[in-house]
Order: sequence, then C-alpha cells, then structure tokens
Amino acid sequence: TRVLSVTSECVPLIKTGGLADVAGALPAALAPHGVEMRTVLPGYRVVMAAQGHDAPVVMELGDLFGGPARIRRGTLADAVLYILDAPHLFDRDGGPYLGPDGKDWPDNPQRFAALDRAAAIIARDGIEGWHPQILHLHDWQAGLAPVYLRQLGVSGVKSLLTIHNIAFQGLAPAHMLGALQLPAHLFTPQGFEYWGRISALKAGIVFAEKVSTVSPTYAEELMTPEFGMGMEGVLASRGGDFVGILNGIDLDAWTPPFADLEGKARARARLRAEFGLPETAGPLCVVVSRLSEQKGLDLLIEALPALIENGGQLIVLGAGDARIESALREAAERNPANVALRIGYDEALAHRMIEGGDAILVPSRFEPCGLTQMYGLRYGTLPVVSLTGGLADTVINASAAAMGAGVATGLQFHPVNAPALARTLARMVQLYRQPRLWQAMVANAMAQPVGWDASARAYADLFKVMTTA
Ligand code: ADP
Ligand code: GLC
Repeated sequence: TRVLSVTSECVPLIKTGGLADVAGALPAALAPHGVEMRTVLPGYRVVMAAQGHDAPVVMELGDLFGGPARIRRGTLADAVLYILDAPHLFDRDGGPYLGPDGKDWPDNPQRFAALDRAAAIIARDGIEGWHPQILHLHDWQAGLAPVYLRQLGVSGVKSLLTIHNIAFQGLAPAHMLGALQLPAHLFTPQGFEYWGRISALKAGIVFAEKVSTVSPTYAEELMTPEFGMGMEGVLASRGGDFVGILNGIDLDAWTPPFADLEGKARARARLRAEFGLPETAGPLCVVVSRLSEQKGLDLLIEALPALIENGGQLIVLGAGDARIESALREAAERNPANVALRIGYDEALAHRMIEGGDAILVPSRFEPCGLTQMYGLRYGTLPVVSLTGGLADTVINASAAAMGAGVATGLQFHPVNAPALARTLARMVQLYRQPRLWQAMVANAMAQPVGWDASARAYADLFKVMTTA
C-alpha cells in the first residue's frame, strides 16, 4: 500500500511534541507490513537548512497562496521525504506555528492549507511516478486535504485523519474561503463550518474516509463533551469509521543502557549528583514535559508535600507556559533538597532522567496517548499517571487485583485532582519501601511491549481495508 503522510512536524527535522515522534517513526514501522509511506513536510527554515537548498526539485507547483512553491526530494532515514519549499510561507525565524513573539503566525491558515493543497496535487498527479493510494493526515494542519481532493476531482485516493490533539482546531474566519481556495458550498454545519468559522480539523473529521486518534480510551473520551472540545458530536457521527490506535515508541532511541538494578542505581546516583540533590531512601521522581495546562503540573505542585514529606524527590525538565514555569521554580526554591528544575528542551537530559529516575510522573488532565510513560516502562521507571486517554491504556495500576496477579506496572490516580494525586504519591512511596514488590513491578514494566509492532499492524490493516473498500 502506498501512503503519503502529511504532517507539520517530524523527527529528526522539526519537533514540538509527540506528533513529530509518531510521524517520524511510522514509515520504518510500517515498511515490514507492506506499506510504503512517504512524507510531505513544510520546508521550514530549519528543514531547508538540514536537507540542503539544493535537494532536487521533483515538482513545480506554481503559485501557492501568494508565492512560488515547489516540492524537493529529501530523506527521512530510509524513507522518502517531500519538502514543500515555499519561502513566502515557511522561510522565517520562529517555530512551526508561533512567531518569535510567541503568537500564532497570522497566516497559519494559508501556510497549512498550502501543505494540504500540495498533498492533494501530489495525489492527483503522482510524484516521480509514484501514486499514493492513501493520504495519512495528522491533526488540523492536514485537515483540509480531503476537501482539496474533492475540489480537484481526485477520486480513488482515500484519507485517514489522525487526531493527536483536539485542542487545536485550525479555525479561520469565513471571509478567508476565497483566499484558501475552498469550495463555498461545503461551508455548512454538515461540512467544515464550525460556528460561523472555517475549521480545518472539522474538515478532516467530516471528509476523511477514516478518522483515528492515538489511543482507544481517548477515542471513547473524545465522543464526550468533557473531552471533545466541541467535536464530540461530529466524531460520534462517524461511528465505526472512528477508531483509536495506540502509539508506540522508538525502541532504538529508547533502550536502557543498564541490564540490572545496580546499573539503574548508578544512573540514579549520577542524576542526583547532576542536580545537587542529596541521597535519600525515598524514590527519585522525574517529569519530562511540555509545560501546558494539559499536563497537570499545577496538580503536582499542589500534591508535592505528599511526596516530599514521605522522603521522595522530584526533578522536572520542561518548557512552555511562563506561569507554570515560575510555580515550579518557586517549589524548587522552597525545597532545595527535594525538588530540582531544568527549564528548556534537552533530549540527552531527558534520557538521563528517565534512566536514573525511579518513577516518572504524568498527571495530565487529558492525554491522547503520551509517550514518556512508555519510555518510563521501558527503563523500569514506574509511571505514576492520571487515569485518562493513553495513560489508561498503557499502564497497569497497582490495584489489589493486579498486585495479586503480579502484573502491575505503575500507578494511576482518579479523579484527576490534587488530593487523589497526593494519595497516590504517598502510596507509591510505600510501595517503594517494599523492594520486593517494587522490583517485581519494575520487571513487569520493562517486559511491556511498547514498540510499534501491534499498532503498525493495526494501521496496515486499516490502510488495507481503505484501499479495498
Ligand atoms: P505531547 O506531544 O503532548 O507533548 P508526548 O508524551 O506524546 O506529549 O510527547 C512528548 C515528547 O516530547 C516526548 O518525546 C518527550 O520526551 C519530549 N519532550 C517534551 N518535553 C521535553 C523537554 N523539555 N526536553 C526534552 N524532551 C521533551
Ligand atoms: C499529542 C498528544 C500526546 C500524543 C502525541 C502523539 O501531542 O498530546 O498525548 O502522545 O500527540 O500522538
């Protein structure tokens, strides 16, 4: 099956979150299942710099929303990468979505509509003699592609929209219909209109043949008003065409460098030393996270006494919201022997933390899948997570039943609030003090399959159904 992945981020070239990891991992994960996945990615300044401005031009697109655009051929590990080279849209300082001032680029609707239109043109004309059968669309940034497919009269190329984060819906004012070259007759509540505005996400949900999200539990949650953020009705209306497929992690990038508990203990000691934390008898907890409302770190700050008073320690690595950042800074200053903080984005440090930690805390308010709890499982760094989304699907809570059966891999708390988290942190410390129980959980955790195997097969099966339907 030939699939073109349409994405706004992709490791190792550009990443703001787990979407980049997933888009980067899928081509290699799917290849053994008979899926040839190629990827189209905007030619942001960093992408052009990395892959070279002299990467061969394989398609001229002419004018695309106000300037000339072309597709260049790059590489993504062993897979083919198509770079949308459109300097008027992507050649600028700043991030993929935000300018240096931290605000959305005002022309984001055009920027990602351009990506989607380019994908639809590739679907129509083929590229280098390669004709995709399916477009795999990631998040709102790719949501308009099925509309352009219709408009360009491309039949026979199907779409799968995968939702990684429902919070971003790609809204644009109605007066941009013309500017985005969208068909006005589909601007209705049954189409891509959302309360008077254009919604790229809704366009994808309505017009893609299949819709998925990144865990089965999140798929269920998305059909409720609490989690659906206004899209619950339209998602529910898709019935069996809306499914949850769990993410995997990159097992090569995340392989523990130690083979036994002593190795883990040395890593823990090094990590404490790196952050100037004293040795204690309690568990060393870590957090590696974007600092956003979603991630629930304010709950953790509130629940912190339950950890500290029981001898636990915490190291946080994160970047994002300035308010959360200063609340964490304050907590670290108040508890210098127990709490340490590093603001920034640092892959190598993330590895050292997950290597040396005893537990990884993920107290998210919602979590479509979450990757760091799976890194934790793989490294025997037990996840302590809220009972939601992919966190519910990847961790086996240390309930009486699971402990009795000897299958627990971590702890889950519910409801998602500070008191419940505090109780669970206290319970974690108790378990930690019983080395036999704790080590059994560590062994269970490290034995969990967290790679792409099962999910790659699920995507491959879905693609097969789509091409034969
Ligand atoms: P989300 O996509 O919502 O941010 P995920 O858990 O799916 O959550 O993916 C986050 C990814 O980003 C993981 O690979 C995680 O290790 C990485 N990450 C997040 N924050 C940092 C940071 N400050 N430094 C290094 N890596 C980070
Ligand atoms: C989103 C979600 C995260 C998920 C990632 C990759 O950023 O917040 O839960 O793991 O996408 O699908």
